Order: sequence, then C-alpha cells, then structure tokens
Amino acid sequence: MTSPQGQTKPTSGLTAMRESYDRAILNPRLRAVFGPTDAYNLGFWRQEDGNPVTQLSQACGRLIERHCSLDPAADAVGCVLDVGCGLGLSTALFSRHYRPAAVYGINLSPHQLRHGRRHHRIDGGWIAADALRLPIASGTADRIHCIEAAMHFTPRSAFFAEAARVLKPGGQLIVTDVLAIAASDIVAPANLAGTLDSYLSVAIGQGFAPVLAEDVSADTLDPFCRYMQRIGLRNVARYMQSRLSGYVIAVLQRRSDIGRGEPS
Ligand SMILES: C[S@@+](CC[C@H](N)C(=O)[O-])C[C@H]1O[C@@H](n2cnc3c(N)ncnc32)[C@H](O)[C@@H]1O
Repeated sequence: MTSPQGQTKPTSGLTAMRESYDRAILNPRLRAVFGPTDAYNLGFWRQEDGNPVTQLSQACGRLIERHCSLDPAADAVGCVLDVGCGLGLSTALFSRHYRPAAVYGINLSPHQLRHGRRHHRIDGGWIAADALRLPIASGTADRIHCIEAAMHFTPRSAFFAEAARVLKPGGQLIVTDVLAIAASDIVAPANLAGTLDSYLSVAIGQGFAPVLAEDVSADTLDPFCRYMQRIGLRNVARYMQSRLSGYVIAVLQRRSDIGRGEPS
C-alpha cells in the first residue's frame, strides 16, 4: 500500500509509484507504526495455534510465514523470485526457507533494494526492475512470491502473463493481494476486481490454474483496519474499508500445456 495521504501529482505512472513508496516506506512516522521489522504489508493476524496477533510488526512477519507454509515441499526448488520485495525482509525469509535455492528480491526502487542489500543476507541477488518486464529468462523460475504488490502492477493481467513466461511449466505463483471495488492510490482502475472469482479469472486467462485460493479478509484486512482505528488512524481504516472488498491469498500453478508466455 502507499500512503493514502500522498499529495504529489504523478509525473509518469512508474516514477510516481516508486517515489511515493520511497517516501512512505522509510518515513520515520510510518516506521514507528510498522515497528522494528522491515515489512510493509497489512499482516496476517492469527498465530499458528489460532490465537490472535496483536502487534502490526508481528502480523507482517506472520504474512510472510504464511507464504512459506503454502510451499512446504521447498527442497526441489532452485530459483525463487520475490516480486515487489519492499525492504527485503520477505526475500531474506524466503532465502532461509528455500535454502540452498537462489532467491532474488525484485523491486522498482533501487533505494529500497539498497536497504535490502545492506540489512539482509540472501543466497541470490537484488534486481531493480518493473514487475511487468522481469529480466529473467523464460521458463527458469520455480516459484514467484508476490506479497501485496500486484495490485500496483498495471495492468495486473500483464504481470500474470509475465509471471507465466518466467515460470517453469508447473511452477507456482504464490500471491497475496487485495480485492477492490473503487479505484484509489492503492489499486488502479485497470485492476479493479471485487470478488475472488473475478480475480482468479484474470490469472486463469494468463495460463494459471488455482491450486488454492481464499478470501482471508478476516485474518488480514479486517484486523488491520481495527488496529488502525485502535491506534487513532481512523482515516486510514475508513479509506481502506471504502475501497477494498477483500484480501486474496492464492497459489497459482503455471499450466504446462501452454507455450511460454502464451495466454490460453
Ligand atoms: C505494499 S509494498 C509490499 C512490500 C513487501 N512485499 C512486504 O510485504 O513488505 C509494495 C512493493 O511493491 C513495489 N512495487 C510497486 N510497483 C512495482 C513494480 N511495477 N515493479 C516492481 N515493484 C513494484 C513497491 O516499491 C513496494 O516495495
């Protein structure tokens, strides 16, 4: 997510997105809200034993753990991409989860990548690139994780097509993303999808078969908004509630019966 209070008018879509994130993600006031970790997402607010999570920084980490738990058979994996990797915490945790695989943190922002390089050790590398033009050879990645970033990739369908191009047949895209009913600085008009079915139909159209797909708003968006209210950021909660209709977690498998990058 970007800061809902962002004031600056965009110069071009990608530059505006990068500048807006760079201003928000290391802003000391926002870091104070997100706590001591390097995550920047809405979080997963339920612990493994079912008990609720009460702190945002812990919930952010739990969301990354949730991604890992969706891919327990990590042994046979050689190449993993973390697209929209923020400050690199998720990339580092994926690197640990998939060791000895090569894990690449990919972000539009060289500034955020510099932070990742300085603060997190990974087996792989940091790549400055737009998610719609990944500098990765076709059919070479085993997994792509994308935590709360695909709503910004305009259009999201082009990201699904690019992910299908770089994944090996049978490889998986593991994504958490928001459903939106109204455009905002979080979700562009091209990416409005108000229901899980409408979201999945876009991925299916680009060569993916859903292995698992759930609306997990009750563990993500809803408690995040309650937390924002509790700490006095009622405008943030209201803004999100008026525009977002759900929160998706999905494991999408690249179909092996299609050519590389060829939509079905
Ligand atoms: C909500 S943050 C999520 C960060 C991280 N995944 C996490 O969970 O902490 C979205 C990230 O996507 C990145 N991003 C936005 N548009 C992008 C694009 N077109 N290509 C690559 N990264 C992009 C932003 O710079 C930001 O780091």
